[in-house]
Amino acid sequence: MDAISYDKPFIRITGLKKSFGEQKTLQGVDLDIYHGETLVLIGPSGEGKSVLLKHIIGLLNPDDGKVELEGTDLSHMKERELLKMRRRMGYLFQNAALFDSLTVAENVAFPLLEAGIRDRKEINKRVQEALELVELGEHKDKMPVNLSGGMRKRVGIARAIIGKPDCVLYDEPTAGLDPIVTDVIDLMIQRLQKRFQVTSIVITHDMGSVFKIADRVAMLKNGVIYFIGTPDELKQSSDPEIQNFIAGRSGMCA
Ligand SMILES: Nc1ncnc2c1ncn2[C@@H]1O[C@H](COP(=O)(O)OP(=O)(O)OP(=O)(O)O)[C@@H](O)[C@H]1O
Ligand SMILES: [Mg+2]
Repeated sequence: MDAISYDKPFIRITGLKKSFGEQKTLQGVDLDIYHGETLVLIGPSGEGKSVLLKHIIGLLNPDDGKVELEGTDLSHMKERELLKMRRRMGYLFQNAALFDSLTVAENVAFPLLEAGIRDRKEINKRVQEALELVELGEHKDKMPVNLSGGMRKRVGIARAIIGKPDCVLYDEPTAGLDPIVTDVIDLMIQRLQKRFQVTSIVITHDMGSVFKIADRVAMLKNGVIYFIGTPDELKQSSDPEIQNFIAGRSGMCA
């Protein structure tokens, strides 16, 4: 059964513009994301992929245009609505952004405490489940400083999914991870989609992951969505810029 519903967008981004000083980063992004799909966002470094993701959870505000969640403009939401909306979203920051003074388990438990859950037994059980999903069950008492880069990232993923969000935004979930752990994370994203109809937006530079997990792929380039389509349509595109990007060709000479 296809659980993706393409009738009404879950998230609708229209005419989104964002500049930082003189630098025009997003120059009119239009993008719809549907319930239950895995949308993978690709594009050259520094084009604004992370900036776009931060607009989706309201961490940044557009200069122009809007982001709507189930038809409601985020910029019209009151603080309380915004907090409620954020609880439905899990977010993995590009640098994992762990609290260095908290243990792995305390970091992962954070969204539950924020949501007002106080039952210790339930918290411990859910922390253990989330850590096992990312294969870190044995490391819950460690401090972030004593983890490898890849482990930090996986703790960030456990924290992003522990609140059982409807939608998870992953900013480069597999960057710097070995191929086996990359496969585990890709499978986890697919499992969350199949079992709980979780909507995922995944930024990645790993073309292997793109073809494994994406229902649709969007490419951000020159401040706009340059391409949107299925992984097959991406592969079959006759646009040399897209083909060079997929193949990792810079066009430079040695
Ligand atoms: N808060 C900010 N203040 C000023 N400039 C910013 C801010 N956030 C992002 N930028 C700039 O916006 C541009 C896009 O950054 P962004 O992090 O979104 O790129 P990206 O596409 O995610 O790149 P990468 O693939 O390397 O992660 C960069 O030039 C960055 O310096
Ligand atoms: Mg980024």
